[in-house]
Amino acid sequence: MILYYSSTGNSRHIALKLHEVFHGDLIDVCDCGERVSFNLEDGETLFLVTFNCFWGVSNRLEAFLRKSEFRNAGKIVVIMTCGGYLGGGDASVEKLFLEKGLPKPTVYSLVMVTNYSILHDVPPPDDQKKKLMHAERILRNILQGAQKPYHSGWLIRRLTPVVHAQYEKSRVTSPFTVDSTCTHCGLCAKNCPVHAIEMKGGKPFWKLPKCDICLRCLHHCPAKAINYGDSTRNRLRYLCDSSGETHTS
Ligand SMILES: Cc1cc2nc3c(=O)[nH]c(=O)nc-3n(C[C@H](O)[C@H](O)[C@H](O)COP(=O)(O)O)c2cc1C
Ligand code: SF4
Ligand code: SF4
Repeated sequence: MILYYSSTGNSRHIALKLHEVFHGDLIDVCDCGERVSFNLEDGETLFLVTFNCFWGVSNRLEAFLRKSEFRNAGKIVVIMTCGGYLGGGDASVEKLFLEKGLPKPTVYSLVMVTNYSILHDVPPPDDQKKKLMHAERILRNILQGAQKPYHSGWLIRRLTPVVHAQYEKSRVTSPFTVDSTCTHCGLCAKNCPVHAIEMKGGKPFWKLPKCDICLRCLHHCPAKAINYGDSTRNRLRYLCDSSGETHTS
């Protein structure tokens, strides 16, 4: 069984690649309710592919993992995509699964294209392609058993709760703005994984004070109308489609 949670498509692309090899159920966490019971075949491996979020997982995914049940999982393999450095992401997911009485996950880090354009710009298309090709090479190594799992050191593990606590502070929706270029298509509201956006008078309105801050709305907006304060203005928007092609605008 392969579960994935993805905002701009990197993790979905990796999940689809995994699925070509392992088949079985391929489940987008965004299509699931908050709590699901999964019955795996006896000893089946549970794969989770998701993005690194301040050295952990996003709020939506964490809540889903905490509330859901996973029966008969033999082994758990987590592939965390990131923009540059996984930090203590492995420590965060280990804690989550161990607290549920599930096996300790084997965690792999895959450096892909960063989508956290609040802090830094998305790299240019040539760099994106290189990063994607490198990530696919590492994925092949993982599948062939030739890739070492990721293990953060003790200092990084001690720092992880401090770094991940910054996520909580960063989830506020008040800095979101919408430019006059908005075409009122409603895509942002429709695709938000936590239903934080409502269309009001043809324009998106953030009805929740906090969201997952996954930046899906910002990167997917066809009119580049969504910004997060001034930090994302004039920065690239990024998407990785299901065939692994990257798109920048
Ligand atoms: C809220 C948020 C926090 C992030 N934190 C980190 C981080 O701590 N380290 C890192 O290398 N990348 C970080 N990233 C970048 C993503 O992990 C990376 O771009 C990932 O591959 C995106 O996957 P997706 O396309 O499946 O959403 C963050 C992205 C978001 C939206
Ligand atoms: S996705 Fe962009 S263009 Fe469409 S409604 Fe949202 S802000 Fe407007
Ligand atoms: S409002 Fe945008 S950034 Fe926040 S969870 Fe929804 S899609 Fe993600």
